[in-house]
Amino acid sequence: MTFLKGRRILLGVTGSIAAYKSAFLTRELVKAGAEVRVIMTRGAMDFITPLTLATLSKNPVLSELIEDRETGVWTNHVDLALWADAMIIAPVSAHSLGKMVTGQSDNLLLLTFLSAKCPVFFAPSMDLDMFKHGSTRENIEKMQSFGHILIPVGKGELASGLEGEGRMAEPEEIVQQIHDYFEARLPLRGKKALVTAGPTYERIDPVRFIGNFSSGKMGYAIAHELAERGAEVTLVSGPTSLKVEHQRIRTIHVESAQDMLKACQQEFSVAEWVIMSAAVADYRPVEQSEQKIKKTDAQPVVHLALNPDILKWMGEHKSPAQTLVGFALETNNALENARKKLKAKNLDLIVLNTLQDDQSGFGYDTNKVTLITADNKTLPLELKTKTEVARDLIDYLQQSAQ
Ligand code: C5P
Repeated sequence: MTFLKGRRILLGVTGSIAAYKSAFLTRELVKAGAEVRVIMTRGAMDFITPLTLATLSKNPVLSELIEDRETGVWTNHVDLALWADAMIIAPVSAHSLGKMVTGQSDNLLLLTFLSAKCPVFFAPSMDLDMFKHGSTRENIEKMQSFGHILIPVGKGELASGLEGEGRMAEPEEIVQQIHDYFEARLPLRGKKALVTAGPTYERIDPVRFIGNFSSGKMGYAIAHELAERGAEVTLVSGPTSLKVEHQRIRTIHVESAQDMLKACQQEFSVAEWVIMSAAVADYRPVEQSEQKIKKTDAQPVVHLALNPDILKWMGEHKSPAQTLVGFALETNNALENARKKLKAKNLDLIVLNTLQDDQSGFGYDTNKVTLITADNKTLPLELKTKTEVARDLIDYLQQSAQ
C-alpha cells in the first residue's frame, strides 16, 4: 500500500450500524502508514465511541465546530479539509448522503466535506429497501456527478436480518480501492526506467579488487523516487550494502563493469528513461588470478585494461524516444568538463557533483549538484538530501517531458 504511507486521511463517520467497521478501517489505514484524523457526526456516536476511534487513529476525534463558546475555540473546517490528501466518508448513512447532495452544512463533517478539494470517497451503508429507494439512487449518482468516488456497497446479510445490497464495503476493500485509485493516477505510471547505482569491483584475485567509495545512495534514491511515482524500474546495482524493497523495482546485482554493461545492454532498449549514477571503474586488471596471490618480497605489478564505457555505448544506441542522464564527478574545471562529457556521450542531461562541496558525494546522505542539459541550461541546486536531489531531478525530467 505504498500510496497510503505518510498520506493524510480524513475519515468521516456518520450514523449507521456499519460505523463499527470504521474502527477496523482506521486501523487498516494507520497500519498502511497513513496519518488519520476522524470526524464523527452525533449520530455516529450512537454506534461507536469517539474514544475507540481516537485511540486507533492516535488523534483526537473531531465532532464539534465550536469547541468552547466562552473562549471562542472552534475547529477550522477549511484548514482541516486542506490538510487532507484524501477524505473518506465511511459509512455514509442515507440521511448524511441526502444532506451532502443538497449542500446542507449543520455539522463539522458536512462543512469539511463541502470545503474539501482533495478526492472524496464515500461508502454508503443502509438497509436493503432504503438502498433501493429512488432517492438514494439519485443521491449516489449526484455525488458521483460532483466528482466524488463511490465505494460500492456489498451484498449479504444486513443488520435488519434482510439479505441483499446495502452493507458497507469491508475495510480492506475500501483501503484497496483508495490505493488503486491513486496508483492508477501516478504521474509516471507505465514508464520504464533503467537506473545504475553503486561502484563496480574489478577483481585482482578471489579476495582483492579495485573499486571506489561509491555507496549507491544516490542511485537507490533515484530508483525509489521513480517507482514511487509509478515507473517500472530496473536497478542495476554494483556491490553495496543498500537494500530496496518496492513492488516496482527489479534489482539486478552485478559486480564488475563488464557485468554491468551486459545487464544494461539487455535492459536498455525497453527503457524510456535511463539514469546512470553508478561509479563505474574505468580500469580492470588485465588478468585475474584464480588463486589468492601470495605475498612476496618482489613488488607486484597489476596491469590494467580500459573498461567499456556503458554510458557512451548507450549514447550511441539511444533512440529519440529515450532520455539519457549521466553523472559527472569533477574536481577541476567542473562545468566545462561536465559539458564536454554530455556531448561526448550524447546525453540529454548530466548531473554534476564536485567533491569540493562539504557533505557532498560519496557516502554522504546529502549532495550538492548542478543539472546541465543538452541545450546548455544550467540549474545549480542547493545542498540537499539525496532523496531531495532525486526528487528535483525527476521533477525536472517530468517537466521536460511535457
Ligand atoms: O566519464 P566518466 O566516468 O566521468 O562519466 C561518468 C558517467 O558515465 C556516469 O554517469 C557513469 O555512470 C558513466 N560511466 C559508464 N561507464 C564507464 C564509466 C562511466 O557508464 N565505464
